[in-house]
Amino acid sequence: MNRLDLDVLLDDPGTAIIVCTGSGGVGKTTTAAALALRAAERGRRAVVLTIDPARRLAQSMGLTELDNTPRPVSGVDGSAGGSLDAMMLDMKRTFDDLVESAATPQKAAEIRANPFYEAMSSSFSGTQEYMAMEKLSQLRAEAVAGERPWDLIVVDTPPSRSALDFLDAPKRLASFLDGRFIRVLMAPARAGGRAYLRVFSAAVGGVAGVMSRLLGAQVLHDVQTFVAALDTIFGGFRQRAEHTYELLQGEGTWFVVVAGPDPDALREASYFVERLEQEGMPLAGLVLNRVHTSVIDDLTSERSLAAAEQLEEDGVHPLTAGLLRLHADRMRRRDGEQQLAARMYGAHPDLPVVEVPVRAQDVHDLDGLRSVGADLGSG
Ligand SMILES: Nc1ncnc2c1ncn2[C@@H]1O[C@H](COP(=O)(O)OP(=O)(O)O)[C@@H](O)[C@H]1O
Ligand SMILES: [Mg+2]
Repeated sequence: MNRLDLDVLLDDPGTAIIVCTGSGGVGKTTTAAALALRAAERGRRAVVLTIDPARRLAQSMGLTELDNTPRPVSGVDGSAGGSLDAMMLDMKRTFDDLVESAATPQKAAEIRANPFYEAMSSSFSGTQEYMAMEKLSQLRAEAVAGERPWDLIVVDTPPSRSALDFLDAPKRLASFLDGRFIRVLMAPARAGGRAYLRVFSAAVGGVAGVMSRLLGAQVLHDVQTFVAALDTIFGGFRQRAEHTYELLQGEGTWFVVVAGPDPDALREASYFVERLEQEGMPLAGLVLNRVHTSVIDDLTSERSLAAAEQLEEDGVHPLTAGLLRLHADRMRRRDGEQQLAARMYGAHPDLPVVEVPVRAQDVHDLDGLRSVGADLGSG
């Protein structure tokens, strides 16, 4: 296994963006926060963009307000000259700002007043991923313009089912707006009154007719005007998505893929690693988080279990027998994880990897993050 030492990445002044990705619940937010804190305490001026921090972690980082503005994290050791700001993504607000900046004030007001906007800005699949990317480019622009002191941006990604969603979001949003479904919906709104009537009365079996019956004419009208309005700023969307994509492919950006030692997470990680290669996006390596270890790792599961059974048969030392069983369980688990990991490493022999042991408790404060950070770096 090729050991990944993330300190090398954090200490390189050329590293400007680190994106932590992986499937849901594997430890992306924890890894992003731990890396940003470690970077700050090693002298970087870092900002971490979190998406969905667990409540206690958010509190310990001062992320109590969802106002889309990075704020200093207190309790960070700045003696090496670094600092840490943190923010939590407000998806709805980022979408609002985006519409505001891409459309005329009148158009923007029109879009925002549309009932369909509410639904799309808060729940359209891919919106959160897209908004995370959007926010990343904004933070980057502020840093480059010298409005903010940051020389490193660490990005967490949304709790998607699949890690690929983050990369696919801009395209998905674009193809949604470009798609056949939308074109059919748009037809009556774009054309004049007669075409409108024709579509609605004659094409009873058509999409618009079906939609109209399912949703009601008012809703359909709302959707149409909404899409018509979005359409006018759509060029803006696409351009921005492309710009962010370039940023992600550019020098100074690194992806860190996080996975847990289970088949699903590793499969996702594998897809992601391959995808990054195809897209020419730079991959720092894999964080295998929450691995089980044991301090007595020369006592195998089998021997431990046999010893427990022997003690139980003899009717002595019940506590020791219980501990031996616990040890046997843990070793069995560890062995299973190691087998899975070995398969992953075998399939990607050049992939740098760092393993982070599972903690007895959630990682919910700066000390917890420091300890994870030490595992991610060189101790
Ligand atoms: N190495 C670890 N040991 C113990 N708990 C962990 C570890 N890494 C993460 N956790 C916990 O697992 C939960 C999910 O982690 P989180 O970073 O929020 O995952 P994600 O952002 O990928 O959904 C959190 O409660 C976190 O504290
Ligand atoms: Mg998360």
